[in-house]
Amino acid sequence: VFSGREIRLVARPRGNPVTEDFALAVVQYDEPAPGQVLVRNLWMSLDPGVRARMNHGPSYAPSFNVGSSLDGSAVGEVIASACEGFLPGDLVVHRAGWRELALLQPGVASSLPPRHVRPDGVPLQAHLGALGHTGFAAYVGLFETAALRPGDVVFVSAAAGAVGSVAGQLSGLRGHKVVGSAGSEAKVRHIVDNLGFDAAFNYRDGPVAEELHRVCPGGIDVYFDNVGGEHLESAIGAMRDHGRVALCGSVSTYNGDTSKGLRNEFQVVSKRLTLRGFLIADHLHMWDRFLEEVTPLVMSGQLVQRESVVDGLENAPAAFISMLAGGTLGKSLVRLVP
Ligand SMILES: NC(=O)c1ccc[n+]([C@@H]2O[C@H](COP(=O)([O-])OP(=O)(O)OC[C@H]3O[C@@H](n4cnc5c(N)ncnc54)[C@H](OP(=O)(O)O)[C@@H]3O)[C@@H](O)[C@H]2O)c1
Repeated sequence: VFSGREIRLVARPRGNPVTEDFALAVVQYDEPAPGQVLVRNLWMSLDPGVRARMNHGPSYAPSFNVGSSLDGSAVGEVIASACEGFLPGDLVVHRAGWRELALLQPGVASSLPPRHVRPDGVPLQAHLGALGHTGFAAYVGLFETAALRPGDVVFVSAAAGAVGSVAGQLSGLRGHKVVGSAGSEAKVRHIVDNLGFDAAFNYRDGPVAEELHRVCPGGIDVYFDNVGGEHLESAIGAMRDHGRVALCGSVSTYNGDTSKGLRNEFQVVSKRLTLRGFLIADHLHMWDRFLEEVTPLVMSGQLVQRESVVDGLENAPAAFISMLAGGTLGKSLVRLVP
């Protein structure tokens, strides 16, 4: 009785994905069965981690099968429900993005279960950005994984992006010196002028180690790593004793380029560094604390998040490819209903 489009993986990308790796398909949905909820997605998030899951092999979540639909974070409105606690009109954040309609089973165990969003005066899509999994990744990485301490100097990579822009601002708002890297002059200016970073550099200008030393000659205590590869090696080189690295992601490797691995791991020993990976799904006990702290910052405008928005599910693959290539600023989103 209901019909909506979804995006499927039709070929595993080799290197940078191309639009031919994706296909649109129309799916019919019956009325929800007991325990199910049918949601009309309003916004979906574009996340680099989806690229990692397009590869064959282990990732932070099962890799996508060729021929199957993609998924990822989305926010939508319940249009039919046979599940207690969910009523038509409810707004829900969930993991069944990359489609217009989503059939959810909230009672089935999941690492990131569907979550209600209450109207709170912030734009709905902020619940995919600064007040969603994106902002939460920044919060967990800084305050739990890296255990930020007073006086720490912080370095954030992909700092003009969704997670990085929040991580940098949260550090700055707590009084830390914070430096960032990004892939264009415009992004570098944005990081310093609008996001309050103390300094930033364009990693395409030269070796990351040299650029990092130029903007932060005294070294760093915490590295919030979105990028991996050369950035990670350079950050280890710039670390002071007992520094900590929060490994959030390694976007420089998702398209298959693993040629820039670590060559200086002995510095991890000699400087007694801690490198720790994290996944937000393991830290949901921090969710309420995160919202309590970050919601007022977003509502007051102290923490800003730019959005790069395209309209229509059919444009999601191209927008995703652009995001991976550095063509977007802030949180990358697809608006599914005009
Ligand atoms: N651990 C978790 O639970 C968790 C949760 C959410 C996200 N993540 C991770 O967090 C990271 C950031 O995600 P996001 O959603 O905020 O994405 P984003 O930063 O908004 O977008 C990705 C950006 O990465 C940069 N980039 C791409 N290739 C690069 C390369 N080779 N070297 C350096 N920079 C490169 C590009 O910006 P430039 O123009 O600056 O190159 C691109 O726009 C990703 O690694 C993601 O997988 C982890």
